[in-house]
Amino acid sequence: MSDLHPAHMPKIIAHRGASGSAPENTIAAIRRAAELGARAVEFDATVSADGVALVMHDFNVERCSDGHGPVVLKTLEEVEKLDAGGWFDPRFAGEPIPTLKRALETVRATDMMPNLEIKPTLGWEEPTARAVAQTLRETWPMDRPVLVSSMSPLALDAFRDLMPGVSLGLIVYAIPENWRQRLKDHHCHSLHCYRDFVTYDLVQDVHALDARLHVYTVNTLDMAKSLFAMGVDAVFTDHPENLLELL
Ligand code: G3P
Ligand code: MG
Repeated sequence: MSDLHPAHMPKIIAHRGASGSAPENTIAAIRRAAELGARAVEFDATVSADGVALVMHDFNVERCSDGHGPVVLKTLEEVEKLDAGGWFDPRFAGEPIPTLKRALETVRATDMMPNLEIKPTLGWEEPTARAVAQTLRETWPMDRPVLVSSMSPLALDAFRDLMPGVSLGLIVYAIPENWRQRLKDHHCHSLHCYRDFVTYDLVQDVHALDARLHVYTVNTLDMAKSLFAMGVDAVFTDHPENLLELL
C-alpha cells in the first residue's frame, strides 16, 4: 500500500467540525469534535482577496456570518471582523472565521486527523490550491496523516503539482459513470459521495481499485451501521455524539 493511501483515515469524520452542536467550520466546531471523541475532522478551505487560506464552505459570507458578499472580495482584515458564531447560537457570538493555519494548529493540538476539503470559489481554483498548499506546508508536520479532497478537478491538480506527497480524495454527489477514470486522472485514493448513491456493488468496485469510499452526511446511528455493513470505509457526520458507539 502506498504512503498516499488514506487507509489511516478513522471511520467517523466530524463534518465541518462538530457542526451539529457548534457553528460549522469554526475553531469552536473543531474543538467540539475532539471533545465528542471524534478522531477525524473535515473542514472546507477557501481563500481571501489577499491570498490567505480561510476555513469556510460558501462563496459568500452571508449564511454563516454577519457579513455580506463574496469572500474572495474581502481581505483577511475584513474577514476577521465578521462574527461566524452568532447566527448559530448567541452563545457562540464573536467566534471568527478561522484562517486555515489556525484550524490546522487546533487540529494538531488534538489527536484528530484532518480531511481538508479545498472548496474554491468558482474561477479561483488555482489561487485557492496555492494558498492551501502553502499553509499546509508551513503548518502541518508531513509525518502526520492528512487527507486533502475536493469536488474541483482543477483544484486537485493544482494542489498535487505543489504537494505531490499528500493523499487526495475526489468528492462527487452522485456517482459519475467514469468515476474510475476520474480517480486515476486526478491521482485520488478515495471517492467521497452522497449517502443515497452507495450500493454494495459500488463499495466492492471501489475496493477492487484499492481505493476507499467515504460517505456524507450521516447523522443517525442506524444509517451509519447500514453503510458500514455494506463496507463503506468512513462517514462524515454533523453529530459525532450520535455515533459514539462506533467511534
Ligand atoms: O467532504 C464531504 C462533504 O463535506 C462534501 O460536501 O458541501 O459539505 O462540503 P460539503
Ligand atoms: Mg466539505
